[in-house]
Amino acid sequence: MITDILNLAQTISFEKVPVSIYESAAGASKAVADEIATLIKAKQRKGEKAVLGLATGATPKKVYAELIRMHQQERLSFYNVIAFNLDEYYSLQPEALQSYRRFMEENLFNHIDIDKNNCFIPHGGTPAEMIKLHCEEYEKKIEECGRLDFQLLGIGRNGHIGFNEPGSHQNSVTRLITLDNITRLDAAYEFGNLANVPRKAITMGVGTILKSKRIVLLAWGERKAGVIKQAVEGPVTEFIPASYLQGHYNVEFVLDENAAAELTRKKTPWLTDEVEWSNGMIKKAVTHLSLNLNKPILKLTNNDYNENGLSSLLALYGQAYDINIEVFNQLQRTITGWPGGKPNADDSKRPERANPAKKRVLIFSPHPDDDIISMGGTFQRLVDQGHEVHVAYQTSGNIAVADDEAWRFIEFVKDYNNQFGIVNTESDKIYNEALSFLKIKKNGEKDTSALRRVKGIIRRGEAKNTCRFVGIPQEQVHFLNLPFYETGLVEKSPIGEADFKIITDLIEQIKPLQIYAAGDLADPHGTHKVCLDGVFEAVQRLKQKDFMKDCWLWLYKGAWAEWDIDLIEMAVPMSPDQVLKKRYGIFKHQSQKDGVVFQGSDSREFWQRAEERNWATAAVYNKLGLAEYEAMEAFVRWHY
Ligand code: F6R
Repeated sequence: MITDILNLAQTISFEKVPVSIYESAAGASKAVADEIATLIKAKQRKGEKAVLGLATGATPKKVYAELIRMHQQERLSFYNVIAFNLDEYYSLQPEALQSYRRFMEENLFNHIDIDKNNCFIPHGGTPAEMIKLHCEEYEKKIEECGRLDFQLLGIGRNGHIGFNEPGSHQNSVTRLITLDNITRLDAAYEFGNLANVPRKAITMGVGTILKSKRIVLLAWGERKAGVIKQAVEGPVTEFIPASYLQGHYNVEFVLDENAAAELTRKKTPWLTDEVEWSNGMIKKAVTHLSLNLNKPILKLTNNDYNENGLSSLLALYGQAYDINIEVFNQLQRTITGWPGGKPNADDSKRPERANPAKKRVLIFSPHPDDDIISMGGTFQRLVDQGHEVHVAYQTSGNIAVADDEAWRFIEFVKDYNNQFGIVNTESDKIYNEALSFLKIKKNGEKDTSALRRVKGIIRRGEAKNTCRFVGIPQEQVHFLNLPFYETGLVEKSPIGEADFKIITDLIEQIKPLQIYAAGDLADPHGTHKVCLDGVFEAVQRLKQKDFMKDCWLWLYKGAWAEWDIDLIEMAVPMSPDQVLKKRYGIFKHQSQKDGVVFQGSDSREFWQRAEERNWATAAVYNKLGLAEYEAMEAFVRWHY
């Protein structure tokens, strides 16, 4: 008991709002859905209405799915619920594909017994001259219902809540706003491309939200980690509208581990609490100290440790020099130009085994270009060093091909047939079908299956071209076309047995000694994460087999982020020439150049993102006092 109190006293919080951190978004969503269900039921017992403020976007989907499950399996009724949504794009009609009205119907309202007359969402099609009145009435309706009992929020990467963009006033009410550039870029994925994203929206105000009796803000994934730190630990500022929530009397931020990663208690836990000095924690602390002070590790002094909250670590070792040298050596040993192991070398301190000198390697690439973008230098080295390298493209990537690109290829086949006198009625049929569809296709509309096939073939050709360029034979190139991906829409099906079987069968057929997979949890459209779950499930199923005992799983990250330096277990350097060669390999993906569909929020081309990231990784090693390389690709080993 006394120890507990002492521990409590030692815990220093930098957080200005209550924060709950869950291991996964699924667990967190369940807890939030439970809270909502409890509220609804309590109100039912009192014969009252439950007034909910609801959000759209990727974040709350699992909460809604859980509420639907409770309705279907546990008879949770929504008869007494009045729902007010935060916002709507202007000027989208309610029936538009990307409207929030449609989102709410598809993700919640159509599956529960809520009275649709009690579902309020700002009307995106309101004529300009009526907007002011429409917004006033929206506010009035909320007031008449006795204010919101519970407001669910997501957060934009720029800190917006609802569509209250940076600059919004604390007392703002429901109104028409202009969307921030970051918000539009993030929405570009849903709309196919940036040009299709509306420039305006109607949103509840910050003041409207703050009047709620209870507010729960959700955030998942490392893409939100930076803004979460600002909103939770930073000053209250109009530049981060979510920071206004610090002033609310009953608010909670519900996060998964990834969204919480930048909070002080996670990033530098020794500043908030007593920590156990495991090897991983020591590496994290020393690299952080070195980068923070802008001093190479070997130059860190006792004072540096003492003055930066690391006196307990210093006490453990006695001298800064001893800690420094230990961490420096560990980092040094992660660097290798032999990702498949160095033949005839002492491998006791190397990331990979020397034997067998020639290994079978299986690279899983979620989309047809992730292999070359994220680990192109390593891919090339593995091939050049004589390993038998296989690549498995997990999805067709067909939704990311622009319509005019497909049109060009369909036309090519038609012209080719004409020129060579080939009569092919099937390709004529596809041509005519695709063309007539393309002429009437709406923004974001699902492609016909023929058109999707054409787009898939385009990406397949590009991947084959890259493999030829790197130097592996066609029989080592595997196109898995995982079924979960083939919806033709941004929204994918859940991964299932058919997907697991395809991945498992391939691993069993190849019996690799090394597997590489995209360990990227920051992918804005989630496909990488699903593909990774597929690989994890397959290795779990196979791990008792003999061949798997020697199979090591290495994770690379996709184009958006890099592993934290203290986690990296293998860093493969690249020379300037190797960087250039990798760039040419990425260029083979012609359909993904120049304003690609579903660009996400990063307007750089893929080769630029890859190079900047690989330079940055090398620069971090160098800043820590290790050798200066042009670029580096980094991997973490996954023990299963
Ligand atoms: C949605 C809304 C927005 C989103 C935010 C996060 O109704 O008002 O504030 O909550 O942009 O979006 P996702 O969840 O897609 O990351």
